[in-house]
Order: sequence, then C-alpha cells, then structure tokens
Amino acid sequence: MKKINAAQLRQMWFDFYKSKGHALIGSASLIPENDPTVLFTTAGMHPLVPYLLGQKHPQGTRLADVQKCVRTGDIEEVGDASHLTFFEMLGNWSLGDYFKKEMISWSYEFLTSEKYLGIDPEKLSVTVFAGDDDCPRDDESATYWENAGIPRKRIFFLPKEHNWWGPAGLTGPCGPDTEMFVDTGKPACSPECSPACSCGKYLEVWNDVFMQYNKTAEGTFEPLRQKNVDTGMGLERTIKTLQGVGSVYETDLFAPIISKIEELTGTKYGSDEATTKAIRVIADHIRTAVMIIGDDRGVLCSNVDQGYILRRLLRRAVRFIKQLGGEKGLLSKVAEVIINEYKEVYPELDRNSARVLGEIDAEEERFEKTITSGMKKFTAIRDHLVGDTIAGNTAFKLYDTYGFPIEMTVELAREAGLNVDMDGFDAAYEAHTAKSRAGAEQKFKCGLADHGEQTVKLHTATHLLHAALKRTLGDSDISQKGSNITEERLRFDFNFPRPLSPEEIKSVEAAVNEAIEAKVDVACEEMTLDEAKAAGAEAHFDSKYGERVKVYTIGKYSKEVCGGPHVANTGELGHFRITKEQSSSAGIRRIKAILE
Ligand code: ALA
Repeated sequence: MKKINAAQLRQMWFDFYKSKGHALIGSASLIPENDPTVLFTTAGMHPLVPYLLGQKHPQGTRLADVQKCVRTGDIEEVGDASHLTFFEMLGNWSLGDYFKKEMISWSYEFLTSEKYLGIDPEKLSVTVFAGDDDCPRDDESATYWENAGIPRKRIFFLPKEHNWWGPAGLTGPCGPDTEMFVDTGKPACSPECSPACSCGKYLEVWNDVFMQYNKTAEGTFEPLRQKNVDTGMGLERTIKTLQGVGSVYETDLFAPIISKIEELTGTKYGSDEATTKAIRVIADHIRTAVMIIGDDRGVLCSNVDQGYILRRLLRRAVRFIKQLGGEKGLLSKVAEVIINEYKEVYPELDRNSARVLGEIDAEEERFEKTITSGMKKFTAIRDHLVGDTIAGNTAFKLYDTYGFPIEMTVELAREAGLNVDMDGFDAAYEAHTAKSRAGAEQKFKCGLADHGEQTVKLHTATHLLHAALKRTLGDSDISQKGSNITEERLRFDFNFPRPLSPEEIKSVEAAVNEAIEAKVDVACEEMTLDEAKAAGAEAHFDSKYGERVKVYTIGKYSKEVCGGPHVANTGELGHFRITKEQSSSAGIRRIKAILE
C-alpha cells in the first residue's frame, strides 16, 4: 500500500474525477442553508439534495468535491482511536448520469491502480445490499464487482442496517449502497467474521450509494425520476488505513496539531492512556471549533443549536487542557496551527481567522470565570454526596449558574464513579425553559408598553433600526438583545463590541429614514418557524416560539418574526432620530431613538 498523505489523497481524488469528466465543486458551508432538520452538514450529499431530487445543477450531471462535515452525535466517545467530530468527505455524484456499472469499475480502479491508491486487490472486500420488501437483492452490483476482480467469497450480502443510505432526516433520497473494506490481515474473530463486524479486521474506506428512491413521509419508497450515485470516502479514515497507523490521530493530518499540544502542555502523546485521550480530545475539539467559527456562515458560542455544540466542544477542550496542566490561552495557539494547516484547502479559515481566535479566547475567558467556582462546587457536591447519584436539580444548578454543560457534569461524575439523575435534570431544565418561554412570549410582543398609535409606530421603526444596524455596520451577527418601547421613545439593545462613531449613527439614521421615505407597505404572513427561518426572517428567541409564527416584512428593508402590531405603511412614521447610543452591558450597546 502506498503511504499517501491527506494533501495527496485530495489531489488524487480531483485528478481521477477530472479524468472521468466531473466538474469539481467547492465544499458547501458546514452550517446548512435553508435546512432546519440538521444543525451541521453531516455528509457531502447533504447540500446536493435538491439536485438528487431532480433540480438541474449549474455545473452538470457529474460532480466531485471534498466536503467539510461535522457529526456531533457522540462527542463523549471522542478520545478513542477513531472518533472525530469534524471530518472531510471525498465525494462524487452522478445526477441521473452514470450508475452502478461505471461507478463500481471506477471504484475498483481508484482503489487498486498504481496511479492512485495502489491497494492490493487481494486485500479488498466489499458488501452489497441483501434485499428486503422495499428493494430487491443487489445482484447487479455483485456481478460488477466480480467482473472487476473481486472473488465471490469476498462479496458479502448484508441487510439495510449495513447497506442502505438515506439522509439524516427521515424522508428524502436514499437507496442501497455498496461499501469497500481493506483487510488489515488480523485473524478473523469468528467463523462469521465479516465486514459487518467491528473487531478491526476490516476497515471501511468508501461507500457508493445508489440513490434510486425517495422515502416519503408515509414511509414508502417511491422510485426517483433520475437514478443517482452518491459516494463518500472519509479522508481521515482512509489515510489512516493507507498509512498503516493505529489511529486517525497518528496520521500526518494530526501530527502538527498534536506536537503543538505536546509542546504547550509539556506532555507526550502515547505516554499513558489518560494523556493520550486528553490530547486527542483537545486536538479534535479545537479542530472542529475552528471549522465551525471559521466557516463563512460560522456561528459563535451560545446556549442553543450550533452555538451550544461549539460551546460544549470548547469547554470540554479547556477541561482536558487543565487536566494536562496547561495554562490559559493555549486553545487559540493550537487553533493557529490548525488554521495554518488547512487554510489552503479552506481559504475561509484565513479570511475569518481573527473571528476564530477572538471567539476561542473569549469563550475560554467566559468559561474561566465560572469554572473555578463551579469546580469547587462540584467537588463539594461530590464530597458530601449521600449515595452515588447527583440530583437533577443540583446538576441543573451547575448548568444554569456555573455554565457547566450537562455532559460535562455527567463526565466528571462518571470519573468519580457517580451517576447523575438525568430525568431530574430534564425536569428542572423543562421547568426553567417554560419560565423563560413565558418571558420570551412577552418579548415576543417586542417589548411594547401599550398598543397606542405612537408606540406602534416606534415598534415598526425598531424593526427598521435592527435591519439598518446590520446593514450599516456590515455585521450579520448583530441581533436584538432587548427592546422596550413607550409612547415617547424606543430603546433597542444589541450585541456589538464597541461604541458607534458619529458617522455610523448618521448612516443608521439615514438608512431608517430612507425606508420611511420609500413609503413601503408592511406585510404580515403566518408560517411555521422553520419556514420563517428558511425565508431568511430574523428570529431572536429561536426555538422558544410556538410552531406557527407571524413574519412582518417591510419591503426589501426588513423581515422579522414578531407578534406585532405594526403600522400599515412606513410613510406614517415621520422622521427617525437617534437620541442616545451607549453601553448597556459587556458587549451590548443600547440605542434610544424617537420619531419626530
Ligand atoms: N452519503 C454517503 C455517506 O455519507 C456516501 O456515507
């Protein structure tokens, strides 16, 4: 086997698919656009779903790429030899173009040809779909494999559980697949040992999915108008196999990251189990955090959705750095190495590096403030615990007051041989969310003191102000942090790191007055929150709204989820003037404004 490194593998993939008439497309964003069903892009096919369903792709019917993916289903497993939360997936697609015959012969060629991976054909095994009520046994693929050079005894027929692929959501394009494995030469663990077994004899390198069905909401499989191919080769896993190392963390990709962590913490990967695990966790989590923040649609830490996952990753990394005796400020030093390593493949990381490093330092700082007292609290809880279970309320307090992600409390408890009452935690969490939901519903009325004529006008002006701030300051991360409107004035709080300059205040006023002078109608529509998000509406209390929401659209100027009421036309508002711009709290600015 050739010892191919990550850069060579990406290049070979592109060269191979170019030679087969494919257009090379760039990686889509890690944060899915217009898809509320998943938090992150989890596979290369994800951004291509509309094209798999029949929409025409501008670059044709044969595509290839390397896609950034994040899967965070098992963060707690990270630290073993194989789990990664971020990975790159090499992919190629036929959108109603070639199908099983070409794909299987190309897979064999790429895997075994000396020009490409040069894997000994004797070491290859494949699996194909065994068939069931939904779809027949895939003898066709088996025959193509046999024609290519894989003997029958190394072609395994397996059920849906192993040889079927569908999207992360429950409905959508799906179909049988065929997977390719490299035999490590380890003895079979039992006479039944096959690629379905996880004993480590067979390592999967590639998956060819033959997408020929659409799974409907009723659970039936209807044939797609076009037959597609979707393949995925995990980059890290494949180079691990090709480099013959025991773990993805021992490949060339991780070498500079791990040596930086060793240097900064004065430890050695491999010196003992706990140290190795800690170094792996730190390397994985910071790498994923860099990719999430550094994406062009990147997010920052928060307590919901992607922002919460990011927070969990960074806080878990901090904890393991502390375990290694590392100082504060090391995370962003490791992040710099990661940006450097990946910036040629993903130039957005370079463009967004200030945001990446700034946010990592800021989150470390925020965590630092709470963790010292939180750890003391945890130790006290542990030392005074009667029995071996931490109560749900206690775990919730650690979460709510000390910013401990619940997963961290569970992990700390487990290390101390204790359990956490998760049902109790969930109940405390629910009770808290119900309370803040009630709060949000009040805010949902957008902080209106009354529904008088002038108050309603100022309310509409608040929407225009919100949109104008984003546009004028060129910062799409700006969002509403509070709003209070009386008959006299509006008050609007938003996140922004510094005071606005007098010029900026003038531009914001001008932008609002432009929308007023344009005399645009204010339109209101009802839809689900997901539809509202897909339509690009601003929604500040994310996931706390009820299912159906109202979306107020003010021409091209503003689109926001809100309970109303608003004026019918912006022409009614008069002249908008900012009377005060001041700090409200750390990182939050406050604007007061009037209509004259
Ligand atoms: N979409 C397929 C996978 O992720 C190729 O394995």
